[in-house]
Amino acid sequence: MQRKWVIITGGNSGIGLALVQLMLKGGCIVGVVVRNKQREEAMLAENPFLSTYPNLFFFHADLSVQSEVVTLAHTIISIWPKVDVLFNHAGVLNEKLAFSQQDNEMHYEVQTIAPYLLATCLQLALGKSDYPLIVNTSTDGLHYIKQLPVSHLLHPTKFRKLFGPYLYSKLAQYVLFMHHREIWDSKGIEILFVSPGGNKTKMTLGKGMPSWMRWYVQLFYKAPTYGAKQLWSIVFDSTRHFETGSYVQNGKVIPIRFEPNNEHLAILLSGIKIAIPSMRDQHR
Ligand SMILES: NC(=O)c1ccc[n+]([C@@H]2O[C@H](COP(=O)([O-])OP(=O)(O)OC[C@H]3O[C@@H](n4cnc5c(N)ncnc54)[C@H](OP(=O)(O)O)[C@@H]3O)[C@@H](O)[C@H]2O)c1
Repeated sequence: MQRKWVIITGGNSGIGLALVQLMLKGGCIVGVVVRNKQREEAMLAENPFLSTYPNLFFFHADLSVQSEVVTLAHTIISIWPKVDVLFNHAGVLNEKLAFSQQDNEMHYEVQTIAPYLLATCLQLALGKSDYPLIVNTSTDGLHYIKQLPVSHLLHPTKFRKLFGPYLYSKLAQYVLFMHHREIWDSKGIEILFVSPGGNKTKMTLGKGMPSWMRWYVQLFYKAPTYGAKQLWSIVFDSTRHFETGSYVQNGKVIPIRFEPNNEHLAILLSGIKIAIPSMRDQHR
């Protein structure tokens, strides 16, 4: 199984940067989505060896802006012959409530809506692959959540670091993708939700982490290459195969408990403020 054309969001930093390096060394053609040209230049300045790879390409989009996500997908489709793997990897862990241009809570915007929009708009490019795969970077502990406070997800009034909007946005990501499970299946597009485990990055060392957890991160979290290897092996190690729709933590599939109803799904979808092609309208 050859998966060569790979798009990754959030590839300029932390786990994503380490994963990009693994994929470049492995011979993949890697399209890294970064916020803007300045981020691209900074990434190359801090990692000069990356400029030696002819198989590295850049795309620009602020993933919290829905029009930029849709334009990004159109740009990729117009330049690349196909997409074999889409890593929806970018994420935020904020220290306080913040809202996007669309007036959605920021974790929900970047970690729920943006991956879903990008994947939906990239279906045509994924459909040209023999083994299309979407990997959504998830987080530990989704299986413990029994209730998703969907009505507070888009416009919460209270905030809790890590265990509030951040965690819920990752479960909402799972719920939204799995809602269309039959359509993804009918197009042969596999989807995985993979936790990279605990890694020391600007996210986990930053102010969005509860202060009581920072010493734990310093002591026990690993280098970002750890998370990158988790993601890498799940996609590129041909001896391992996970069924589509799996939530994978520490290399094991764990069932998700939360079961959404139609109202939950309608609320989750209501954060999309831009016209996108319907899932069913896109054909291979
Ligand atoms: N580190 C861990 O222990 C851990 C554990 C579980 C899950 N994760 C997940 O792993 C992923 C990567 O996290 P990390 O720890 O490696 O953190 P990180 O170094 O902060 O990486 C986050 C990446 O997302 C990008 N990003 C955020 N908002 C964006 C936006 N609006 N537009 C474009 N790009 C945006 C960032 O770009 P900028 O540099 O431009 O901000 C950065 O490249 C996240 O999805 C996170 O939730 C991490």
